[in-house]
Amino acid sequence: MIVLGLESSCDETAAAVVKDGQTVLSSIVLSQHQTHRQFGGVVPELASRNHLGNILDVIDASLREASITLDEIDGIAVTYGPGLIGSLLVGVCTAKALAFARNLPLIGIHHIEGHLNATTVEHPAATYPMIGLVVSGGHTSLYFMERKNSYRLIGHTKDDAAGEAFDKAAKILELGFPGGPALDKKSRTGNHRAIKFPRSQMPNYDFSFSGLKTSLSIHVQKHGKINVEDISASFQEAIVDMLLTKTLKAADQYQVKAIMVCGGVARNSRLRHRFAEETAKLSLDLFVPSVDLCTDNAVMIAVAGYEKLSAGERDTWALAPKPYLPIPGSLSCPP
Ligand code: KG4
Ligand code: ZN
Repeated sequence: MIVLGLESSCDETAAAVVKDGQTVLSSIVLSQHQTHRQFGGVVPELASRNHLGNILDVIDASLREASITLDEIDGIAVTYGPGLIGSLLVGVCTAKALAFARNLPLIGIHHIEGHLNATTVEHPAATYPMIGLVVSGGHTSLYFMERKNSYRLIGHTKDDAAGEAFDKAAKILELGFPGGPALDKKSRTGNHRAIKFPRSQMPNYDFSFSGLKTSLSIHVQKHGKINVEDISASFQEAIVDMLLTKTLKAADQYQVKAIMVCGGVARNSRLRHRFAEETAKLSLDLFVPSVDLCTDNAVMIAVAGYEKLSAGERDTWALAPKPYLPIPGSLSCPP
């Protein structure tokens, strides 16, 4: 089964062609960073206009790269939420039009479920049960995954997402847009022990990053932007510490042998290093997508779509974008 995946929930227009949920025939991601850079953040109105202008070219490019035509596509998967409403509308309308015109099955994918499927193509033999940590610009959530495609939400952020914290910190430090990668780069020459930023103590598996952001603001007000490398490295270390501590605690309490980390922040070099180091010490398997599959892409949507379409799931023409779609899995307490 060859699935065309479409992703347009925020500021990346992406299309991918994946065979049998395993073989990536193509992946095109058109980033809008140039458009939004001057505003220091994503401007929703501009994002949707850009998606509309680019999505057909992106789909064309993905078919060309895969050396196939629409005739060979067996199903269409599209992100239908959560995300920016105008951006989602473009992806969903395009997917519906293509599916309708070609009489193809259509499936809507929850963006976070997409992220959780990003490791599948690279690690088909991942070991379950596992703990899945999703760290992106809009979400920071921990899932207990008893088996493939089963998600039980065990904790999430009570305020900012980890990526949002990186982006806001980068803005305070005037490191440029997008903030996460800029702060990551700055940190490489900094001392992560230079400033002792607080680690929030939320109950169970929940996270909070807003206090950390306030500490950074206070530090900059008091001391100015001196040794930005050290400030960046210390701030980054605090985020990574919080994510790592809760994830390892969950792995222990849920008695899993594997951890998966996905979402844009999983690109972070320090996060990748520390998770690799600490899981190795505990003999836990670690699954992290290659960097291009961490940030928004359509491979993850096509893979999640394949799982559902091959199980017989279909959406109707009533599929509509949902900016505030509940996270998959029910909130439940630790064992
Ligand atoms: O998953 P994603 O592409 O979009 C959302 O679903 O939100 O994640 C984007 C987030 C942004 O906040 C961005 O700053 C962050 O991922 N990010 C990083 C790095 N690369 C991207 N954060 C820290 N270090 C990085 N290297
Ligand atoms: Zn995302």
